[in-house]
Amino acid sequence: MSKVVFITGASSGIGKAIGEFLFQKGYTVFGTSRNPEKINNSLFPLVALDVRDNQTIKKAIDEVLAKSGRIDVLINNAGVGITGPIEEIPSEEIKNNFETNFFGPIEVIKAVLPQMRQKKSGLIINITSIAGYMGLPYRGVYSASKGALEIITESISMEVKPFGVNIVNVAPGDFATNIAAGRYHAPVIEGSAYETTYGNTLKQMNEHVDSGSNPNIMAHAIYEIINNKSPKIHYKIGAFMQKFSIVLKRILPDRVYEKMLMNHYKLK
Ligand SMILES: NC(=O)c1ccc[n+]([C@@H]2O[C@H](COP(=O)([O-])OP(=O)(O)OC[C@H]3O[C@@H](n4cnc5c(N)ncnc54)[C@H](OP(=O)(O)O)[C@@H]3O)[C@@H](O)[C@H]2O)c1
Repeated sequence: MSKVVFITGASSGIGKAIGEFLFQKGYTVFGTSRNPEKINNSLFPLVALDVRDNQTIKKAIDEVLAKSGRIDVLINNAGVGITGPIEEIPSEEIKNNFETNFFGPIEVIKAVLPQMRQKKSGLIINITSIAGYMGLPYRGVYSASKGALEIITESISMEVKPFGVNIVNVAPGDFATNIAAGRYHAPVIEGSAYETTYGNTLKQMNEHVDSGSNPNIMAHAIYEIINNKSPKIHYKIGAFMQKFSIVLKRILPDRVYEKMLMNHYKLK
């Protein structure tokens, strides 16, 4: 019997690559999009879901359970970027980002857990970010929302393990997807105290994503994790220096690490 995999945000980028790879490997894959009717090139079925709307989460999961009887693997992938100086980002945009990147994934987890607990098996994979391991300049809200998901996963893991359910985080580095296009960018305000530094950092960020790795690398990593009987809690998938930046944060004094980041982003 093929495993049933449910992937949020599977209309493009990483979610789509994971879905296509698992589908080709013989898994039963259901993906989601806020507008599935607009996507006509998906290899697997897409159901309507907006992680900020509980009704759509419930409806989508009920629909998948009615069709397949169970969800074996949830991949909490839907997410959006946000950039800007914290002082200038409108508060509603900060909240909106947390709704999508943190509160939404928690609601999806809550919705799949009852049937996973009942059948005493299941795997939940949260797609976080290497940016969630450190407060990056002008990406503080994104770093915080992904960092929060990393931490809460550790708590949920201990709560659901007795029911045979595993939960893990996979933190990508830079991958070439639509994420930069879909980001909320606080405008670079002419005359703002942050005009030069934010403008330069934004340019650098977009170049990194455009020159990012192929999302198929993420798909292979997820396949390995699904087939690992004892998965780790935290995975990092990306270029060597992106992963090494987490090691450096652990071993360097805070101010030395901060100086290194500021030099990297030319903030002096
Ligand atoms: N690309 C990178 O370099 C990178 C690095 C670190 C982490 N990540 C993370 O990887 C995940 C996938 O991103 P991606 O790079 O593949 O970007 P992407 O190509 O923009 O894909 C994002 C997906 O999320 C869905 N989505 C956005 N808002 C949603 C909402 N409110 N409710 C439900 N679905 C929503 C989109 O679907 P619809 O628009 O069709 O609804 C889309 O399928 C995200 O969590 C992102 O933070 C990406």
